[in-house]
Amino acid sequence: MAFHEMDVDTIWLNGEFVDWEDATTHVLTHALHYGTGVFEGVRCYDTENGPAIFRWDEHLDRLYDSAKPYELDIGHSHEELSEATLELLRREGLESCYIRPIAYYGYHSLGVSPGDCPTDVAIAAWPWGTYLGEEALENGVDVMVSSWRKHASSQIPTNVKTTGLYVNSMLAGEEARRNGYVEAIVLNKEGNVAEGPGENLFMVNDGEIFTTGPAQSILEGITRDTVITLAEELGYTVHDEAVISRGQLYTADELFFTGSAAEVTPIRKVDNVEIGAGTRGPVTEEIQGAFFDLVERKTDAHDDWFTYV
Ligand SMILES: Cc1ncc(COP(=O)(O)O)c(C=O)c1O
Repeated sequence: MAFHEMDVDTIWLNGEFVDWEDATTHVLTHALHYGTGVFEGVRCYDTENGPAIFRWDEHLDRLYDSAKPYELDIGHSHEELSEATLELLRREGLESCYIRPIAYYGYHSLGVSPGDCPTDVAIAAWPWGTYLGEEALENGVDVMVSSWRKHASSQIPTNVKTTGLYVNSMLAGEEARRNGYVEAIVLNKEGNVAEGPGENLFMVNDGEIFTTGPAQSILEGITRDTVITLAEELGYTVHDEAVISRGQLYTADELFFTGSAAEVTPIRKVDNVEIGAGTRGPVTEEIQGAFFDLVERKTDAHDDWFTYV
């Protein structure tokens, strides 16, 4: 749904709540030209105990980590950004929503060196349903292995969430959609599996679970960490630094994506080859069930992962 069709009218910008239409930036903003921003994507769930932001502190910690290699001074404390976000959700009356904090080099001069450019910080939130389509969670998605390779972590820090990185994600995802697929899988420079354009990837084989680690140039997703924890609690062995070759994708028993936006989404085909039985596999279903029970607070476990609005 487009923003103008949504019932949201406030954004937090540089310490103030402003009208949605007024949260604008100059065309000569540094980050617009050079991709020098860092951001987060976080979900707030409408739980049985009221609206709650899932793993907010970890997301915010990652935002500050993302700023580090770029020497971007966020200039607002963790507490200030938390308070602003909670107040924003209360003002908007949002229950289930997606939260987008962003910090970037703003308007001052346009050398590649950000020099004296200020840091602008904004937080927006809006209702956002299933990322990869309504049916995706149950039936799975068809994906293609992209012809684009992911940046190597020796070229650009891939373990942090920088706006500029997402041109690669966009190229891979749009290539997939142009070819009739829902999403892409992106290989790294070595030709092994990295992740999706906005998701981490999990593989199930012979009852064990495999996912790629930071040395494969991935973003270490917070949903990835959640799923590793839940899977281990369910008794699965999880290999979280796996090296997965392209060929192993086709012969896997099950594959699924994880991400704050994509949540836990089964993959039913890769390059038109059916994965397992070509439907959501039993391990994926069990983990997905545990994930949604957790985020909807149908269990008391891990309550410290929730920030109640
Ligand atoms: C490239 C990439 N990998 C993985 C993920 C999943 O990370 P998380 O579970 O923290 O949302 C994301 C989404 O933020 C992403 O953009």
